[in-house]
Amino acid sequence: MAAIDTKNNQAGQAIKPPRHIAIIMDGNGRWATKRGLPRTAGHKAGAETFRKIATYCKNIGVQYLTVYAFSTENWKRSADEVGAIMGLLKRYLLEAVDTMERDHIRLHFFGDMTPIAPELRALAHETDEISAGLPEGDFQANVCLNYGGRDEILRAVRKFAAQCAAGERKPEELDEAMLSGLMDSAGIPDPELIIRPSGEQRLSNFLLWQCAYSEFYYTDTLWPDFDEAELDKAIAAYQSRDRRFGGVKK
Ligand code: FPP
Repeated sequence: MAAIDTKNNQAGQAIKPPRHIAIIMDGNGRWATKRGLPRTAGHKAGAETFRKIATYCKNIGVQYLTVYAFSTENWKRSADEVGAIMGLLKRYLLEAVDTMERDHIRLHFFGDMTPIAPELRALAHETDEISAGLPEGDFQANVCLNYGGRDEILRAVRKFAAQCAAGERKPEELDEAMLSGLMDSAGIPDPELIIRPSGEQRLSNFLLWQCAYSEFYYTDTLWPDFDEAELDKAIAAYQSRDRRFGGVKK
């Protein structure tokens, strides 16, 4: 069963959280620079924030948390910084392999894993296999790695074109549900709420297909400083929105 029952937030208030929250974990570099630390220290702190927020999401009954860890454009950063982010991912995946069954946490990756180091890919494969053995209603964290929204759409369209070329499908059969089923997010409901910390107000190629009716929440807080109370505020803002999906209020 999807965990969408009412739960208590940090302030002890009953809330019905969104089923799927997505977060652009932005501001790690600025957080570190402000403290005279290397940017990599910001990513280390940001990874800990991910752990804290994922745990909180699970506890308050959010079923899916999707985070933007590394974009198709992030390869432009220094080799040191890219290496540090990949190293952190490896560390968290190694830990996840040992704990996800016990904690009932499923892990899934969005993105093109082709250029990712074999060791990290193997670990992602391992966490995928563990996730497949866990009940579907368990909390699921989706980590976007070498991910770009346009790239995801392109890869889905290429898969469809290949199916057409193989005679398995016809172009006129393509509809939104079929294309959704070819995305990295196949089978996962679209995020109701997308959060971007750090004061930037743009989407940066994140979940372009899935965000059609998402509510957006921006805060100046830098990701390493983001905490449970901040998430409560974002959820409260989301709950105050009037979602009409193109219709009119009854
Ligand atoms: C954006 O902040 C952050 C990233 C590009 C990297 C995010 C990666 C992690 C938090 C580490 C690994 C993740 C997991 C899930 C364990 P920025 O560096 O662009 O910040 P800035 O805008 O202040 O420079």
